[in-house]
Amino acid sequence: MRTDTAPTPTLLEDYTPPSHELTSVYLDFDLQPSATSVRSKIDVKRLRDEPLVLNGENIDLRSVKIDGKVLKRTDYKLDQEKLVLAKTPESFVLEIETVCDPSANSTLMGLYVSGGRFCTQCEAEGFRRITYYPDRPDVMSVFTVRLEADIATYPYLLANGNKIEDGAVSDKTGRHYAIWHDPFPKPAYLFALVAGEFDVLEDSFTTMSGRHIPLEIYVDPGNASKAEYAMDALKRSMKWDEQVFGREYDLDLFMIVAVRDFNFGAMENKGLNIFNSSLLLADAASATDMNFERIESVVAHEYFHNWSGNRVTCRDWFQLCLKEGFTVFRDQEFSADQRGGAVQRIKDVRALRGRQFAEDAGPLAHPVRPNAYMKIDNFYTATIYEKGAELIRMLKTILGAERFRAGSDLYFKKMDGTAATVEQFIACFEEASGEDLTQFMRWYEQAGTPKLKVLRETISQGAHRIHFMQSTKPTPGQSEKSPVVIPIRWQIVGDNGALSEPKLTLLTGSGTSVTYPRIDEPYSVSILQDFSAPVTLETDATTDDLLRLMGADPNAFNRWEAGQTLARHLIANMAKAIETGVTPPADTALKGYCEALKKTLDDPDFNNAFKAFVLTPPASSEVMQSLEQVDPIALHEASKWLSRAIGDLLRDDLLDRYHALADTHDFRPDARSAGRRALRNRCLALLASRQDPLAATLSQTQLSESTNMTDELAALMALTRLGGQRVETTMEDFYTKWESDPLVLDKWFSVQAMRRHADGVHAIEQLTESSRYQRNNPNRVRALVGGFAMGNPELFHRIDGSGYRFFTDQVLDMDSRNPQIAARLLGAFEIWKKLDDRRQDMVRGELERVIASNPSKNVLEIAEKTLGA
Ligand code: PHE
Ligand code: ZN
Repeated sequence: MRTDTAPTPTLLEDYTPPSHELTSVYLDFDLQPSATSVRSKIDVKRLRDEPLVLNGENIDLRSVKIDGKVLKRTDYKLDQEKLVLAKTPESFVLEIETVCDPSANSTLMGLYVSGGRFCTQCEAEGFRRITYYPDRPDVMSVFTVRLEADIATYPYLLANGNKIEDGAVSDKTGRHYAIWHDPFPKPAYLFALVAGEFDVLEDSFTTMSGRHIPLEIYVDPGNASKAEYAMDALKRSMKWDEQVFGREYDLDLFMIVAVRDFNFGAMENKGLNIFNSSLLLADAASATDMNFERIESVVAHEYFHNWSGNRVTCRDWFQLCLKEGFTVFRDQEFSADQRGGAVQRIKDVRALRGRQFAEDAGPLAHPVRPNAYMKIDNFYTATIYEKGAELIRMLKTILGAERFRAGSDLYFKKMDGTAATVEQFIACFEEASGEDLTQFMRWYEQAGTPKLKVLRETISQGAHRIHFMQSTKPTPGQSEKSPVVIPIRWQIVGDNGALSEPKLTLLTGSGTSVTYPRIDEPYSVSILQDFSAPVTLETDATTDDLLRLMGADPNAFNRWEAGQTLARHLIANMAKAIETGVTPPADTALKGYCEALKKTLDDPDFNNAFKAFVLTPPASSEVMQSLEQVDPIALHEASKWLSRAIGDLLRDDLLDRYHALADTHDFRPDARSAGRRALRNRCLALLASRQDPLAATLSQTQLSESTNMTDELAALMALTRLGGQRVETTMEDFYTKWESDPLVLDKWFSVQAMRRHADGVHAIEQLTESSRYQRNNPNRVRALVGGFAMGNPELFHRIDGSGYRFFTDQVLDMDSRNPQIAARLLGAFEIWKKLDDRRQDMVRGELERVIASNPSKNVLEIAEKTLGA
């Protein structure tokens, strides 16, 4: 959608309630791939004497009727984006007929065709591509939907709610129909339909009040067994939500459908979740442990939306975190219960730091509740989701588990069936707890990651004081920052463990301090245990402190954290040395660090999954955040140097461990087995990073003998890291083996995207031109183009600019078909101000080229903000 007029942003402060209420909606679909007709019949009640505005995009309007009377062209206003009925009766029946072309819909918003099946995606503003409608989340209605299609091609006809009727269409041979009714009022963004041929995996769940709910997962014919893990995760999610949040399922049926072409991960449409097949289908041979883990958490996430999102939805899109932050928090808690708290917290914090902290420190920084947007699609961000979840976690920390649950119960009770705001959510927690949460609201309003500075001071008689201070740097559009409430968990730790109880200090102003009595042995302070707030830390901890915490912190998360902090210093120092061409001094910290790693590796009190994380130094993208400006290639070299050093110093231990962890059972996807594989493959990766010839042999053997994708892919990646002429044939063999499985081929493309190709960017370019590539499929594009920009610093940041140029070409190419995906890819430039001057000039040139090319509104918004225009 190109627009010639200067686009105007939507503002939170402009919100006005809907002018009309829709008491019921009836939709009738005549499904044909290139011309689907949609007839709607809506009971409307006027609330205020204002025009009725119906959104619509890319659809042909055939007729509009009010109370059965066809409107003349002069009775309404129609433009590219809306249909306006200036004068309406107080209550009336509105009938609209439109036609759309699903087969030509490459945006994957609204009604489209994927793999020969009809499916929909309506969040956030896709319903307007199906019919003219007040497409805003605070307009909620009860939907009845009739679907009609060819029975041979589309044997299954699905929509939200419960099926109330189906059968053959009497006057049309070969056509059948189904009628679905959803008794729960919902906004249009939760509407969904699916039609096509599927295999169905069936099961059931009995709710806490004894209701029997059939569960159905619809997948490509032949794939039913690959949905078994998702089904199991679904049943566990349903049980968990009853036990932990008191939430019971409400409809008589729950369905999930897997599709190959999908813009996001999955969608919580009422009673009919639609999933990207990459987040649903898995078996031992073709999916990694990480895939299983993601499936478990996304199935839970979408299911949990049934309450946090569907029963209570958002008043407007500025409130998106109301459903997303809360639901991410809920799925994180679920995963922690399923797989272990410390390991889950590490994963979540890694994701937060990797994506959200970068966003919050760059040109795209925005509050968890933004107050302006051009395209809402661009705000499905790490800030809304991941930082949003951190806010809920802090709320629970501040209130305590019991009062948190009481607040949640009150929210679901009070706000059920409504479209709510963040204020209403917080008010429920205030009411249930008796706390004043006025200051807490600042977390929703202020962008940027606060910095927490911690200093120790010795006061009289050997007693100590710890000073906690906070500050937040200005972000685009917000130069002044006020203090936020920061819950800080801390504890005194000696060489043999805890020297104090864990404490919780709330920092509300710009600074505060705590004191504690004299301690007659060496000690350190473990700060921000379990990452009790989403802040960056600046402390006076020495290397000795960090080593002590790595070995003795009773909080497992902070043990890991101490190692990460140390590794970050090591990498940053090495990067500076490489950049300036000086030989770095022999670092005693490195030796201590590796010894501490070895101690953890040998410690029987920790599980393998945890050990694998301890043995994983922070990614260079994370280290970049703590630096002002850096040559990204030097940084990458430094990060490789650290892995190599660990490999060198711990070679024998890694080798022993690799052999000791060999699999003796059949594949099981559970956390314990996955942890074993994670640690074993971590050992292999570290050995490979020192170019150990033995690693090549081990990887070859593992590649040919493995019976699961986790080990197979880990071996393949180790081999590509080792390099050599065999890589090409190995890659081709893998391709041939998996030729018929698109999800595995996506993995092949990401390995290609991240490889050090001898002929540089050209190799990636050739892949985009090969017939193996599918430029319309978001998974494939993310794997290759996204994998290249985010996972191949050596090629992406090439000093000749070829990486940036190729990447920008790909974004623009994508923009002509799918603006949402293009805009999200372009986010890879958000770190550009961290780069050296020469590279900044090149990125600036590319961003200007994007803007000059008359891109979509989505891409324009990201490009302009990134550039700081
Ligand atoms: N609401 C979905 C989720 O987070 C995400 C989504 C947004 C999917 C927009 C598709 C389109 O669960
Ligand atoms: Zn969600």
